[in-house]
Amino acid sequence: MINNYLFLENSMARPRQLWLRKRQPSHHLLILLVGVLFSAGDCREFPCKPPHFNAFPFCNASLQVADRARSLVSLLKLPEKIKLLSNNASAVPRLGLPAYEWWSESLHGIAGNGPGVRFDGVITAVTVFPQVIVTAASFNRTLWRALARAIAVEARAMYNVGQAGLTFWAPNINIFRDPRWGRGQETPGEDPMVASLYAFDYVSAFQSQIGWNWESSLSGSRRRRRALKESGGEQGLMMLSACCKHHTAYDLEKWSNFTRYTFDAKVSEQDMEDTYQPPFRACIEEGGASCLMCSYNQINGVPSCARGDLLRKIKEDWGFHGYVTSDCDAVAIIFENQKYASSPEDAVADVLKAGMDINCGTYLLRHTELAVKLRKVKEMEIDLALFNLYSVLLRLRFFDGDPAKQPYGELGPGDVCTKDHRELALEAARQGLVLLKNEGGFLPLIRSNVTSIALIGPAGNRTEVLGGGYSGIPCDPKTLLGGLRDYLPNTSFASGCVNTSCVAADGLDEAVRVASVAEVVVVVAGLNLTEETEDHDRVSLLLPGKQEDLIHAVASVSKKPLILVLMGGGPLDVSFAKEDSRIAGIIWIGYPGEVGGQVLAEVLFGDFNPGSRLPMTWYPESFTAVPMNDMSMRPDPSRDYPGRTYRFYSGVSVYEYGYGLSYSTYSYKFLSAPSKIKLEGSLSEAFMDGEPPCEYLHIDKITSCENLAFTVKIAVVNNGDMDGSHAMLLYSRSATSVPGFPKKQLVGFDRVFTTAHGTTTVEVTVDPCKHMSTADEQGRRILMQGAHHLMLGDEEHVVLVCS
Ligand SMILES: *[C@@H]1O[C@H](CO)[C@@H](O)[C@H](O)[C@H]1NC(C)=O
Ligand SMILES: *[C@@H]1O[C@H](CO)[C@@H](O)[C@H](O)[C@H]1NC(C)=O
Ligand SMILES: *[C@@H]1O[C@H](CO)[C@@H](O)[C@H](O)[C@H]1NC(C)=O
Ligand SMILES: *[C@@H]1O[C@H](CO)[C@@H](O)[C@H](O)[C@H]1NC(C)=O
Ligand SMILES: *[C@@H]1O[C@H](CO)[C@@H](O)[C@H](O)[C@H]1NC(C)=O
Ligand SMILES: *[C@@H]1O[C@H](CO)[C@@H](O)[C@H](O)[C@H]1NC(C)=O
Ligand SMILES: *[C@@H]1O[C@H](CO)[C@@H](O)[C@H](O)[C@H]1NC(C)=O
Ligand SMILES: *[C@@H]1O[C@H](CO)[C@@H](O)[C@H](O)[C@H]1NC(C)=O
Ligand SMILES: *[C@@H]1O[C@H](CO)[C@@H](O)[C@H](O)[C@H]1NC(C)=O
Repeated sequence: MINNYLFLENSMARPRQLWLRKRQPSHHLLILLVGVLFSAGDCREFPCKPPHFNAFPFCNASLQVADRARSLVSLLKLPEKIKLLSNNASAVPRLGLPAYEWWSESLHGIAGNGPGVRFDGVITAVTVFPQVIVTAASFNRTLWRALARAIAVEARAMYNVGQAGLTFWAPNINIFRDPRWGRGQETPGEDPMVASLYAFDYVSAFQSQIGWNWESSLSGSRRRRRALKESGGEQGLMMLSACCKHHTAYDLEKWSNFTRYTFDAKVSEQDMEDTYQPPFRACIEEGGASCLMCSYNQINGVPSCARGDLLRKIKEDWGFHGYVTSDCDAVAIIFENQKYASSPEDAVADVLKAGMDINCGTYLLRHTELAVKLRKVKEMEIDLALFNLYSVLLRLRFFDGDPAKQPYGELGPGDVCTKDHRELALEAARQGLVLLKNEGGFLPLIRSNVTSIALIGPAGNRTEVLGGGYSGIPCDPKTLLGGLRDYLPNTSFASGCVNTSCVAADGLDEAVRVASVAEVVVVVAGLNLTEETEDHDRVSLLLPGKQEDLIHAVASVSKKPLILVLMGGGPLDVSFAKEDSRIAGIIWIGYPGEVGGQVLAEVLFGDFNPGSRLPMTWYPESFTAVPMNDMSMRPDPSRDYPGRTYRFYSGVSVYEYGYGLSYSTYSYKFLSAPSKIKLEGSLSEAFMDGEPPCEYLHIDKITSCENLAFTVKIAVVNNGDMDGSHAMLLYSRSATSVPGFPKKQLVGFDRVFTTAHGTTTVEVTVDPCKHMSTADEQGRRILMQGAHHLMLGDEEHVVLVCS
């Protein structure tokens, strides 16, 4: 019944098989024609179009954004205003205001999931970069920013030819809390610090003006604001608008009796402060995001879009300037499904009063008029929403006349699917691929020694599995088979099963036959969007269907131990393969993007040295006994609850967070780090239930927080014969153990280039108040006094924190 009126973020009335369509030669004539039309300039609708519509004060670019926004709102009549409260905002012809579609998507490349993006014009394909969880595994912030920038260029090019909007609903920065989550693939993983930095990097790179200085804005909101002013001026001009989603505690699609539309996430203040909110705070406070999306779920009994308390805090304390959109139809469900509001008009009033500005969907279009008539909503409240919305469009220069004559107006079809973007997609897939097993140094293969390869598995010769959720039409996808054949034409193939669900291994005999005669066997297994996607969580962490049977059958005939390649965004319990000596290598390739095939071949033959780490814990199948609806991060032995993510999980893992091998081995040395940090501030308090009782300070009482950041100088030694780019993770743990405290947590990371048998020196900045702290049960951040151990591989360095 939900689907009768809900239009999900990913189910628009457009071809679902986007991947199957490539640029077709027959489109060339059309492309030429459309190109001519666009360059003629007349057919393009834009606001403030001369000669009739450029005299309104909101069209005057020398006025302040706020004054222009107010002027526009003041000229609108109530029925017109109401028609602007939807993602599909209507035109207001008498003011020269064209219709505007607020909903475009750009998670890891421009995607067709929102109606704002169309692939039916001069631009028929875009660069499909690796899925976000893959990119996260690189732990390379320079790469994250470069990707966001490349996506922004393709986005603006599509806007210029009328095939996309200026407002994009990415990134997805919810914490990957449960391994079954269908959308974990879209996120940077389970660590709040990594998610925070990813959010900051994506948003600031995507939104900012050309010439914005990255380095001066890497940390600190004051510095960010200064940097923003330097680039966008006082007006905060932007190239594009990004959106932090889904606020908040949203990470369950459909599991057991629960669906995201009615799920009430019960979240403690403690988990809220040190798990769920940090990415949103960084996205807004430091990244300067101009949009926030409120999620479907409730948080402690109140629908997210009606959580006025949270939204006010975001505006007042985090300095949010932008618009708040609902997830699609997240207002309708407040009355229809959640029964939280007692009428449609009450639902409308709840969200507008809470500070939501626009409704993805049609609910506000249909029910706001009556809500005003019934005095549940004041016109002033609508005006405020429109002010927020149009301020953002003004900052995007939407009201500054002909887009072709504005900054970025020159971007067009020639800036999409470029060689540079393809190279960046390759680089991201290389930097994101994780080597999980390499028995006896079986890999890399020596090219001249291999005469034949057999590739087995349903995903081996398919392009649609490469991108994962929120993918656009790729420019020129390369299948895994295609990539291997480029290296070794004598590569044979058998799918084993029809698709990744692998309900029947009908192709088993053929797979066994093909594998038995080849010199080297590569099996591709794992997940596809049929197993994990929006509105669909997994119930098992094992390989789907008969995939494991296929692997065993092939392993038993393979001449040499085989190589297992795993696709998908969610963790898999592949314990069997970890232990099986017939399986020499395991490689997680995730959703590698459109160039995935080339990257697999490159790593097998040692053209690059893998150096990434898993950004999420790989739990065993037994974890599926944990109720997915339980939002607690902390373990609770009294009810056999193991806790979640590497910071709290007390059980065993198949592969731990941060796990990842290389063709080299690495060792570390602390070259310099402080041995003592002195806190200044008011008196400390004691934890009586700690072992032994220990003291802590509330962060907001530490007056010296801003100056506590310190530098750790580290030597990274590459003990192998290959150069390598290597993800280095620095953790910290407090020596005193208090129940509910993280076992350890990430306090810094970097990706470093190392030469064979060489040593590279790297400096990492650690902010103790922000990253070595945790939250107490009331949700206040605290920093433990006493010894903290900084950890790098097996090396430890003790820092004494005291007042
Ligand atoms: C735009 O605003 C400026 C500053 O108020 C004013 O001087 C100028 O006349 C305005 N331009 C037009 C075309 O109204
Ligand atoms: C968007 O709104 C217009 C009216 O302004 C309507 O004609 C059109 O069908 C709507 N589009 C969608 C996709 O709902
Ligand atoms: C789902 O609902 C059924 C029937 O109400 C109930 O017996 C079961 O315990 C519920 N499952 C969970 C995981 O809450
Ligand atoms: C590769 O081939 C060379 C020459 O035939 C041989 O000496 C070497 O041992 C082979 N290496 C491997 C790893 O099989
Ligand atoms: C791979 O897929 C392509 C396109 O669907 C098809 O033409 C080709 O025959 C397939 N190759 C093999 C070896 O199955
Ligand atoms: C992957 O999933 C898509 C969407 O569900 C499906 O169309 C396709 O056949 C699947 N491919 C494989 C190899 O399973
Ligand atoms: C996967 O293949 C099975 C038949 O083996 C079929 O029933 C199912 O619909 C297929 N799934 C998809 C997504 O195509
Ligand atoms: C190609 O591979 C097959 C085994 O799959 C092998 O028998 C044959 O010798 C190989 N051909 C060449 C030219 O290496
Ligand atoms: C990080 O990514 C950037 C952009 O792709 C790349 O130039 C750089 O070499 C990477 N750093 C390392 C150490 O691999």
